[in-house]
Amino acid sequence: MDGNGRWATRRHLPRVAGHARGLDAVRSVIETCARRGVRYLTLFAFSSENWRRPQEEVSTLMRLFVSALRNEVGQLRDSGVRLRIVGRLQDFDPELQALIRHAEETTARNDRLHLSICASYGGRWDIVQAVRALLREQPDLVVDPDRLDEDDLARHLALAHAPEPDLLIRTGGEQRISNFMLWQLAYTELYFSELLWPDFDAAALEAAIAWYQSRERRFGRISMQMQNGA
Ligand code: IPE
Ligand code: MG
Repeated sequence: MDGNGRWATRRHLPRVAGHARGLDAVRSVIETCARRGVRYLTLFAFSSENWRRPQEEVSTLMRLFVSALRNEVGQLRDSGVRLRIVGRLQDFDPELQALIRHAEETTARNDRLHLSICASYGGRWDIVQAVRALLREQPDLVVDPDRLDEDDLARHLALAHAPEPDLLIRTGGEQRISNFMLWQLAYTELYFSELLWPDFDAAALEAAIAWYQSRERRFGRISMQMQNGA
């Protein structure tokens, strides 16, 4: 979700105003996904690297996070959304951590749309924490590393509850991955939008989905095999 700051700066508003509008876009994308029957939606809200921003912007983002958790969870619960916050949660202050636990528990029985918000998240962090968790679970792997396979590692990724994404959307005109879901994006279709995140509305999401539907996914095979249903 990139472009909040530029959206605000273009309007001579403080960057914070862009983040607030960004939250409106989040709400609209969640609603559209639920309505369209999308089962898994993962949003990159705050990266491990975003802590390097000016302290004032970081604390504004944290306040926004707190108020979103306070105000939106009831609506999510009632619309069948299961919320998970994924990342280094220990980086957040205890109040925020408690709100996160509460939000996850409140929505834990929902199954319509699995919404994961990545916060203090980085793809490399996730791979390293998965390796650590795997070694704690199976310390013998150290003496016999050939037994380690991709599925073992994938089971311990912080996003293991979700299938690998079909479609990645990056807004804001940048064409890079910026440390998001490095493992899971191996076969994902990548869609780059020039729109700034606060402008990314339901119509923009529909356009991305239509683009995705025009792609042929071969997973390393050739076109003819796919047409034969291989
Ligand atoms: C993305 O918008 C949202 C967060 C990282 C919270 P930016 O804040 O990166 O907006 P730009 O890239 O400066 O326009
Ligand atoms: Mg940015």
